[in-house]
Amino acid sequence: MHTKIGISNEIKASDHLVILADKDDFDWADLYLSNAQSKALMQAAADGLGHVHFPQVKRHVFVQFLKETSDETANREDARLAGAGLLKLVKHYKVKSLTVLNTCYNNCSLEFVEGMTLANYQFLKYFKDAKKRKSSLRKIALFKESASKKAVKSLKASIEGTELARTLVNEPLSYLTAEKLGEEIRAAGERYGFETEVLGMDKIQALKMGGLLAVNKGSIDPPTFSIMEWKPKNAKNSQPIVLVGKGVVYDTGGMSLKPTAKSMDFMKCDMGGAATVIGIFAAAASNNLPVHLIGLIPATDNRPGQNAYVPGDVVTMHSGSTVEVLNTDAEGRMLLADALHFAKKFKPELVMDFATLTGHAAMILGDQGICYMGNAEQSIKDKMERSGQEVYERLVEFPMWREFGDMLKSHVADLKNIGPRAAGSITAGKFLEHFTDYPWLHFDIAGPSYVFSPKGYQTVEGTGVGVRLIYDFLKNY
Ligand code: BES
Ligand code: ZN
Ligand code: ZN
Repeated sequence: MHTKIGISNEIKASDHLVILADKDDFDWADLYLSNAQSKALMQAAADGLGHVHFPQVKRHVFVQFLKETSDETANREDARLAGAGLLKLVKHYKVKSLTVLNTCYNNCSLEFVEGMTLANYQFLKYFKDAKKRKSSLRKIALFKESASKKAVKSLKASIEGTELARTLVNEPLSYLTAEKLGEEIRAAGERYGFETEVLGMDKIQALKMGGLLAVNKGSIDPPTFSIMEWKPKNAKNSQPIVLVGKGVVYDTGGMSLKPTAKSMDFMKCDMGGAATVIGIFAAAASNNLPVHLIGLIPATDNRPGQNAYVPGDVVTMHSGSTVEVLNTDAEGRMLLADALHFAKKFKPELVMDFATLTGHAAMILGDQGICYMGNAEQSIKDKMERSGQEVYERLVEFPMWREFGDMLKSHVADLKNIGPRAAGSITAGKFLEHFTDYPWLHFDIAGPSYVFSPKGYQTVEGTGVGVRLIYDFLKNY
């Protein structure tokens, strides 16, 4: 599943090669081509993002053309897509390791390797013939002039975090209960070197986390509330950045059962926000990012069983505010609210939450982007959007106008858990805002966190969206 990435200091005659080339500026003569080969090469070059394969006696040589336009964001993304595209051929020829050599003026070899590596991710745990299905490609080396050690290390960290997030999303409820998620968090902490604490039912009850407990009432499995901390000595921030992730390990909708069986098929993805946060911690810790982070993961499944919470219930939250539940399928905000209130005690300089929160967000942007909103400073939002362009996990900001908050007024409690159908993603954000008192950003990743078929370098199901975005943001923090 995991592709090794390294730097190679020399290219041996037996090393499989990928040459990244610009069609207008490429030394064709070096390749000693036959007429037929030159023709193929010209054709590929004309196609813009084409590639050509030259089988040699001891090795395969692939020439990959990249476009070099004035739009650098698009160039970088095209390089990632080219990496994912070429992987198909690389696997077809059962290539185990290859070296990437850049000859383009604008060096996109890191992005090319990123795309190829992310596309090479597989989740084979549940296949009897997993071995047979495994990709041949195990190792990619960048020729030393094509990338620095530092850049490769950083790339490895963000890919590893993304892969971890994908795996957690891909795990079904039959494995990944709330308690198991806690164990996975503990294991990631041990592996990457961050601190963890997993609170169980007793502590959650003692803390009066009413939102998390209400959602859990319909479940046989107990909830967990996991706390992570990454605190390097050289942290740049004096107050921590808190990352909160929705950890609904399965969402049936509860008593307000989801309207169609189909819409439940992929609801193992509803801990996508938690997966993103765990992935960010893995990436940040594995590359020693100098930022002090706290992670909070409230987790449970949402079911209509047991003594399930019902529409009309009034729940007293961890903050003391009361919530009238009018739809038990709007459960994510119930547990996120408790985590957001809990975050106050860290006196954070920034809190970011990640959640597969609303179907509306997915309706608006599909899997193409992330809806986000919040009251953090404009300069933070600008940096965030720049990171979004950089890693191609693009952001669209939604407004937080007070009228949307008015839509959550209740006759019996401090607020209700749903507004009218329209503007559903925004009222969800407004609900969360009620539990914050610090600079805050909310990311609704319901659309892009899960895809139904492979797309470019995104593999089917969990995408790990948000990990590369926030890793880039924190790297530049
Ligand atoms: N987990 C869902 C949102 C979701 C939908 C995630 C599609 C991923 C893909 C969430 O808990 C939910 O059910 N939201 C409701 C809210 C509504 C009841 C106000 C929704 O979006 O319909
Ligand atoms: Zn729901
Ligand atoms: Zn949900």
